[in-house]
Amino acid sequence: MTQSTFISERIASLAEDAKSQQLDDETRAVALNAARDLVAALESPVERVIQDVVLNSPILMALRMGVQLGIFSQISQSPEKGVSCDVISESSKASPILVAQVLRLLAATGYIKQQDEQFKPSALTMVMVDPKIEATTRACFDIGNVCTMKAPEFFRQNNNKFPDSVKNTPFQLGFGTDLTYFAWLGQNPDLARDFQQWMTLKQSASPNWIDWFDVQGCIIDGTETQSSSSVLLVDVGGGEGSHVKQFQEKFPGASGRLILQDLPHVISGIENPPINVELESHDFFTPQSIQGARVYFMHWILHDWSDEHCRSILTHIVDAMEPGYSRLIIHEQILRDSGCDIPSACMSVMMMVQVAALERSEKQWRDLLGSVGLQNVKFHQPPGTGEGIIEATK
Ligand SMILES: C[S@@+](CC[C@H](N)C(=O)[O-])C[C@H]1O[C@@H](n2cnc3c(N)ncnc32)[C@H](O)[C@@H]1O
Repeated sequence: MTQSTFISERIASLAEDAKSQQLDDETRAVALNAARDLVAALESPVERVIQDVVLNSPILMALRMGVQLGIFSQISQSPEKGVSCDVISESSKASPILVAQVLRLLAATGYIKQQDEQFKPSALTMVMVDPKIEATTRACFDIGNVCTMKAPEFFRQNNNKFPDSVKNTPFQLGFGTDLTYFAWLGQNPDLARDFQQWMTLKQSASPNWIDWFDVQGCIIDGTETQSSSSVLLVDVGGGEGSHVKQFQEKFPGASGRLILQDLPHVISGIENPPINVELESHDFFTPQSIQGARVYFMHWILHDWSDEHCRSILTHIVDAMEPGYSRLIIHEQILRDSGCDIPSACMSVMMMVQVAALERSEKQWRDLLGSVGLQNVKFHQPPGTGEGIIEATK
């Protein structure tokens, strides 16, 4: 047996093992890291750099074009026979040579499969046709990419300083606007809809917080004696309400009202509101209208704001909390001080270039929450990887 056959057979057998076993989240995360080490051992450093510096950008563009031209949806509908370049070109009205370029790259990256002149769906095609993924592709490419692309120019103009204002980031440079990211979304309804669809997407392979966090012990126990008009949970800046919906579905018998708050344009745009959840337009920079709720929940809110803005958001919540009863539950990254994973480090950079903010470490969370008088701060991490829960009381 040649060396190359020996190595490739060993790797193929490991891949078969991984596919055939139901790995739990923690084991899968460990195995994935080991597999990445294997790729790093096989790939030369130059190949890796070329991939990141030269090749990733056209791949991203091909994915965005795949959504724009309806390539994924068309191919997904023809798993047996497949679809030709000419058929896609005809239905999308794009020139055949443009379609051919995009198809070639999508096939090379495994996003579609090629068999002679026909293109068929792969597992990745079937993910790309999810309307939430299509929306995420548009939102991340059409907004996020503009910000990262403009970042070097922005930082050059600003002496390479961390953006000092939510109104002065690569986002404003990229879009030629004075508006903040969220105010701008309010004026761009198509991308705002895409953004909110992205928010309803399960963001990582780790389980939902309600499946690993002790909701019963931390939230529900102790509320039994409350009247049914009391509020169990307020999802502050909850978008279209995917988190409060999950909560409602998992704990339908929990007593108390559930409230979803967001900006007026978001609340009025919700087409399928979660059932048994009250919707309220609320600006979290103004006093909290719901007093004494059991839980004030926030997911992906504080990572959008500087410490100064966060203190303003938190102070309004702290003012509304009932000492000894109310809990603040923040569902966000708790960054490791070293050896941070790629998704968390990317999200932190994304926040910097769009909204002059960042993801926070345990120490940064402790300092922030302590500065507004919150106490009993506890940190909970999910099995495997993913966003944690930071819990605090008044
Ligand atoms: C990153 S999204 C997270 C949405 C939701 N929590 C989720 O995880 O799906 C941030 C949310 O904050 C909302 N938001 C921004 N500024 C706000 C404000 N001043 N008051 C209330 N909500 C606001 C946005 O409209 C958006 O829905």
